[in-house]
Order: sequence, then C-alpha cells, then structure tokens
Amino acid sequence: MRTFIALNLPPEVKAALSSAQDAMRAAGGRGNFTRPENLHLTLTFLGEVERPRLGTVRAVLDSLEYEGFDLSLDRLGKFSRSGGDIYWAGIAPSPALSALQRELSQKLKESGFTLEDQKFTPHVTLARELRLSSDFSYALPPLRFFVGRLSLMKSERLDGRLVYTEVYGRQLPSK
Ligand code: 2AM
Repeated sequence: MRTFIALNLPPEVKAALSSAQDAMRAAGGRGNFTRPENLHLTLTFLGEVERPRLGTVRAVLDSLEYEGFDLSLDRLGKFSRSGGDIYWAGIAPSPALSALQRELSQKLKESGFTLEDQKFTPHVTLARELRLSSDFSYALPPLRFFVGRLSLMKSERLDGRLVYTEVYGRQLPSK
C-alpha cells in the first residue's frame, strides 16, 4: 500500500486553512484544492510498502523517544510548477520537529526503507496545479497547535477521490 508518516491537524487549524483556500478561490484561483479531511503535514513519504513490512514501520515509530511539542503555521508559500503552482502553509522553524523528522528518517533507512534524499521543508499542501494571480495576498492568522501523535497513513483512490486513512498511530507523551 502507498504510505507516508504524517502529523494530522486539529479541526480548528483545518478550518483556518480552509478559509485560506476560500480566499484563493475568491481571488479566482482554479486548481486542485486539498479537501479539509486530507490536510496534513508529511514527515516522511514511504511510497509502496508491502503489508508484512508495516510492522517494521510501527516499531520505528514506537522507538522514537520524543515528547509532544507545539508547532505554528505562520505563512503561505508556493512551489512554482509549469502546470500550475503548489500552494502550502509553512511551519515556523521548530528544532523539535526537525530532530524528530531526522531521527525518523534515519531509523527508517536503517530498517531498510529507501527514502528520497530531499531537504525537509515542512508544509501543509493547500492546493496543487493552482493558477492564481501573482498579486494574491492573504495574512494567515497565527495557528499554533500541539503535536501529540504520529500517524502512519495509507493513501488510496476511492471512486476517483484521494483518501488518506491512519493505519497506525503513535501517541507522544505530554511534558
Ligand atoms: P505534498 O503535499 O507536498 O505533495 C501524500 O502524497 C503525502 O506525501 C503528501 O503530503 C505529499 O507531499 C507527500 N510526498 C512526499 N514525497 C512524495 C512523493 N515523491 N510522491 C507523492 N507524495 C509525496
């Protein structure tokens, strides 16, 4: 199955991000908007993983010794693409998030998974293939939330819709 490890977002953060998407639509933006239930922050993209290997991913998640921590979404940005840009909400620098993501990727590699060696740019994708006037601007309200769970997610197309489902969750202890 196609999998990735993600932080899911609390409802109030999703609602605020949906408002940002509404502002993009109101400004004439046309493209492929992420549905609210699919809004998330990816830590590591695993791609196709055979079912028997899922236990190894769970064991890696269980081995991480991290307490929960706060994150802030603090800006909108885009990755420029010829067919239409990818718009996202960006995470304010977080040493806790960077350390967690680094250790998670390291341990997955040590366990035999092949990961893309891309710089980690933590973001929540709001829209893909979006064409939007270059003078669009939107002040994202400060969105702070607590990260208390790591989720192993399954990605599939059901009736043409992209559906993400948690197949395993690892709770992080609170301080
Ligand atoms: P994105 O939002 O920037 O596209 C499920 O596809 C999740 O895995 C998305 O959050 C996606 O990031 C992320 N991802 C990272 N690398 C990917 C890849 N090579 N192919 C598909 N998704 C990837």
